[in-house]
Amino acid sequence: MDMLLNPLNRRHRLRYDIPVLPGAFPLVGHLPAIVCDLPRLLRHAERTLGSHFWMNFGPAGYMMTCVDPDAFALLRHKDVSSALIEEIAPDLFGGTLVAQDGIAHRQARDAIKAAFLPKGLTHAGIGDLFASVIQARVQAWRDLGEVTILRETGDLMLKLIFSLMGIPAQDLPGWHRKYRQLLQLIVAPPIDLPGLPLRRGRAARDWVDTQLRQFVRDARAHAARTGLINDMVSASDRSNDAPSDDVLVANIRLLLLGGHETTASTMAWMVIELAREPGLWDVLVEEALHMGAVPTRHADLAQFPVAEALFRETLRVHPAVTLLPRRALQDLQLGQRRIPAATDLCIPLLHFSTSELLHEAPDQFRLERWLQRTEPIRSVDMLQFGTGPHVCIGYHLVWLELVQFCIALALTMHKAGLRPRLLSDVEKGRRYYPTAHPSIKIRVSFS
Ligand code: HEM
Repeated sequence: MDMLLNPLNRRHRLRYDIPVLPGAFPLVGHLPAIVCDLPRLLRHAERTLGSHFWMNFGPAGYMMTCVDPDAFALLRHKDVSSALIEEIAPDLFGGTLVAQDGIAHRQARDAIKAAFLPKGLTHAGIGDLFASVIQARVQAWRDLGEVTILRETGDLMLKLIFSLMGIPAQDLPGWHRKYRQLLQLIVAPPIDLPGLPLRRGRAARDWVDTQLRQFVRDARAHAARTGLINDMVSASDRSNDAPSDDVLVANIRLLLLGGHETTASTMAWMVIELAREPGLWDVLVEEALHMGAVPTRHADLAQFPVAEALFRETLRVHPAVTLLPRRALQDLQLGQRRIPAATDLCIPLLHFSTSELLHEAPDQFRLERWLQRTEPIRSVDMLQFGTGPHVCIGYHLVWLELVQFCIALALTMHKAGLRPRLLSDVEKGRRYYPTAHPSIKIRVSFS
């Protein structure tokens, strides 16, 4: 087997009666295989060890990974905590709502969630704002004729999320680089030396926080301005126990992080799938021409079933968030096993998203799964966004912007007599962790 596993570590051993996946390296554990080859690693582990096994996340230690469908329900379990997220990446997620439980979490979430619901997004005119930014970018691609797709969708997403927050869009390339360094904090070895990911990631985090702190101050100074940061600042300043600026900055950083890489990756995969399957492009163009314009409100999305199916199927096959960490607070029953309190758990969303238990021919990209269904969307149909109290805040936003994006792409390219074509090998250089994305080198032409 040519996976990135340590050939010197073949010993089979147990922790709490559950098998440990062999092949860990010193210091980085199974991270090389998790980052570069996660689907194969999970299949290999399930085949050789069964539904429960320990994976070694290097600096974050061992997590008990469970591919039994019961594991997804853990996300709704009251005795399961998100605090582990803060321990894994304190520099990134410390003090943010994604790592909080119970009442503290609910309060922090309540302060921002309304703005991300269809009503809040419509009220803020996000659809119109996004449509014009997306159209301008897609027209630039048409004129360029060829693009490095992930770089482009990353830039576009940063622009969109900045405009959503009401942050002036200067200096975007700088932000982009800082974000990539910031994300490395999740997998950085715990060695604090110049030039190494930990030191660079922390410097990037400080840079980002300094910018955000200034935005918060600006928001206070110009309370009449619009944008989500202004709404968050004025709402929290009005409340009785107003959160400190540090907390505000941390949660804004979380929103930018949560909304950027994930959506950029999904958007890039969408273009890649359209480029490699001509039939897909044709049905999308047909729908776009039939409707004639990019939708701007959630109420209009039902009229774009092909675009919606494309959004759901792209995420199903290429979920941007592949693994979720949790900690058991009490003893738990998980499938056939008893899990002791304090066990660190890994919930492999990627496995469920592409599982035969949930989908027929799970490896095939099929819009029909969504177009032919008559039942409403259930939580397992959108498991790529998690479920339970921490379910993604950005779901409605992503749905809107990805439908807008593919319709704008279809209209613009079709009008110019162009269609997307893939110029690179898709399998090479794709990543699965900390977030999943196609290779940064993949190029797509419009010809
Ligand atoms: C394709 C795009 C996206 C995917 C696949 C995605 C996925 C997820 C997942 C799986 C979670 C659950 C984390 C957990 O349970 O520990 C989550 C939470 C979250 N997402 Fe997203 N997300 C996306 C886009 C966005 C966007 C656009 C935003 C905001 C602008 C956003 C903001 C958040 C926030 C703030 C949380 C934490 C919620 C909480 O802890 O209560 N996400 N997301």
